[in-house]
Amino acid sequence: MYVCNCAGVTQRQVRQAVNDGATTVKQLKSELGLASGCGQCACDARELIFDTMLANATATGAAATGMAVSVGQPARPSFA
Ligand code: FES
Repeated sequence: MYVCNCAGVTQRQVRQAVNDGATTVKQLKSELGLASGCGQCACDARELIFDTMLANATATGAAATGMAVSVGQPARPSFA
């Protein structure tokens, strides 16, 4: 599914960029061209960054302990 129709950026590309270390919409703009057109995708991209970071934090916590754990939420990504 596309997150950014202007640049043709998919959810999979955003998740991969976050897994590679991206934490802001600005970084996704630089790496993928996301939010470089109309900008309407920026809020959805921000939420996808947050959701991916949260899923990664939860998976990492569970893997470290070998069981399901509750972890604090990561800081919400910024647009900067
Ligand atoms: S939908 Fe991403 S810049 Fe227009």
